[in-house]
Amino acid sequence: MEKKVRNFHILVENNYDALSGAAARIITEQIASKSDSVIGLATGSTPIGAYAKLVNAHKTGTLDFSGITTFNLDEYYPINPDNDQSYAYFMREQLYKYVNINAANTNIPSGTAADPAAECATYEAKIAAFGGIDLQLLGLGLNGHIGFNEPADHFPAITHHVALDASTIAANSRFFANADDVPKHALTMGIGTIFQARHILLLISGAAKAKTAHHVLFGPIMPQVPGSALQLHPNVTVILDEAAATQISIL
Ligand code: F6R
Repeated sequence: MEKKVRNFHILVENNYDALSGAAARIITEQIASKSDSVIGLATGSTPIGAYAKLVNAHKTGTLDFSGITTFNLDEYYPINPDNDQSYAYFMREQLYKYVNINAANTNIPSGTAADPAAECATYEAKIAAFGGIDLQLLGLGLNGHIGFNEPADHFPAITHHVALDASTIAANSRFFANADDVPKHALTMGIGTIFQARHILLLISGAAKAKTAHHVLFGPIMPQVPGSALQLHPNVTVILDEAAATQISIL
């Protein structure tokens, strides 16, 4: 099912596999229409299926990553890129090592930067120097975060160093041996950084996100639910699976 609601182009797919296929198609179309696209990427569970489909499209077809540049939303801080929980490691394992992307064209905030504030400023400037992001992929935190813009009393504008919310540490502890191992900080694009993307692709999967999804799309715009800011962006495609869409009654 597909519906245009204000700035949102909303697609509801039957299940996670169909959601992943729809997301991969949009990313493929972006790369096909502009071979030197600048693509913003996300980690976490949600985009794994879309990355697998992009890898498959590359192996079996003509999808060519050689001209694109990528900027990831965020990275834990501090963390070594060789740590298997780092987002740098995730991107290599889920996508980069299987496609013809030039490693020099992949960007992710450095989890080992000596000066995290300087690293954030450099990252923000590099995105601007590339003319901004053509297509930014986003997942949605259970608490409404996008990137690691956690619930707060304001919308952070630019790439910044952030203390992770207790609920995010708890949610992400599923990937670590225990919750104490989850890094307590991250470097993340700000809401303003994300907003400079010309097209945003938000993926929401699973029943646990249904309430947050409803708030993000239709609730009050407030920094306590950071994703609600997306209501103000002019060009957002949202793909939900049915489990995540149960509270979206207008569909
Ligand atoms: C990841 C990121 C996060 C995740 C969010 C959802 O780069 O920025 O905002 O998108 O935490 O994570 P999953 O997909 O694991 O539910």
